[in-house]
Amino acid sequence: MLADKHILLIIGGGIAAFKALDLIRRLRERGAKVTPVLTRAGSEFVTPLSVSALAGEKLYQDLFDLTSEAEMGHIELSRAADLIVVAPATADLLAKMTAGLANDLASTLLLATDKRVLVAPSMNVHMWQHAATQRNLAQLANDGILFVGPGEGDMACGEYGPGRLAEPLEIVAAIDAALADGPLKGRHVLVTSGPTHEPIDPVRYIANRSSGAQGTAIARAVAALGADVTFVTGPADVPPPMGVRVVKVQTAAEMFKAVQDAPAADAAIFAAAVADWHVANAGESKIKKDGTGLPTLEFAENPDILATVSKMTSGRPKLVIGFAAETDNVIANATAKRKRKGCDWIVANDVSPSTGIMGGSENDVTLIMDNGSEDWPRMSKEAVATKLAAKLAEALA
Ligand code: CTP
Repeated sequence: MLADKHILLIIGGGIAAFKALDLIRRLRERGAKVTPVLTRAGSEFVTPLSVSALAGEKLYQDLFDLTSEAEMGHIELSRAADLIVVAPATADLLAKMTAGLANDLASTLLLATDKRVLVAPSMNVHMWQHAATQRNLAQLANDGILFVGPGEGDMACGEYGPGRLAEPLEIVAAIDAALADGPLKGRHVLVTSGPTHEPIDPVRYIANRSSGAQGTAIARAVAALGADVTFVTGPADVPPPMGVRVVKVQTAAEMFKAVQDAPAADAAIFAAAVADWHVANAGESKIKKDGTGLPTLEFAENPDILATVSKMTSGRPKLVIGFAAETDNVIANATAKRKRKGCDWIVANDVSPSTGIMGGSENDVTLIMDNGSEDWPRMSKEAVATKLAAKLAEALA
């Protein structure tokens, strides 16, 4: 899978740097060429000699190394690879990337590159959870940086939680996805997924039963065909796929903004179960039982994201696909919904509780297009995703 692929691996400082050695070994086993770059902090944890011996390639460490610079300038180095991987990426390195600093070889390569960058963060739980790091992560995701991990577990510092470097095989899978060469290579696909949460007050919200499983499977399937994917997800039960740009939102209004802010897409798939209404008189503080009677919630309509994108007069994706979650007259309602919203295709499914589809692992759909419809037999949500991704690739070809 990785034969003839060239990966520039930046190894940051951190106790997990030793895992980068295993990563190099696994990448080489799969035929990849790995050019290692070791930061000064990284060299406190693994030796330059072990890194370059395992990589079988010259190791780069210093921006101002005249010999390296004469052989291959840092700009050329940043562009020679198919993919740049940062593992482990420290909080410091993420902050530098966010700010666009270029004060050492690693940060300069990251700023100068025109290639995709995959980052595997690793740090202490509190550093990971710090508002500054979370802000940086959101900005980097928005900039198109891909992420893998971190995992959750016991940490070298004796604490427990998120911040552990993803395992080498997980990083290899994310590299595979980032380099996937398929019919959707060079295409940008936007996918919405999951439910939305509409606050009643700071502690309560209105939600729906969507797990995000179908949207997640679709994002994974289109990424596997080589697409560059922006995945806008509400609070789902399943983790987002690897190797895609993830934008996490809570409300329909936030989802609408994330879709508007996303890079122009060739195709957009709206699998999210977006709340139709939000609470217009949501409390700014917790609504109390203060003896004055029951609260009355007033609703206001949410923007229809699918209809807005379908009716865009400029920059409309070539193919807009909606979902129709129905409990009665499924096909008739879905057909009318396709017309009303102006999307090209609509995937109709029966979400009556008896079908077990909402929150379940299978789906039973009818794909309604402008030139007819297809009834697909009941199958796993992954299989629906694979079939839909293949049809999309065909339509965009
Ligand atoms: N959708 C959207 N924005 C909304 C509501 C729905 O983008 N505010 C999208 C969904 O992601 C889905 C499609 O519109 O692709 C249909 O969603 P569905 O819930 O079936 O339809 P509604 O528009 O909510 O209509 P109704 O509640 O009348 O069935």
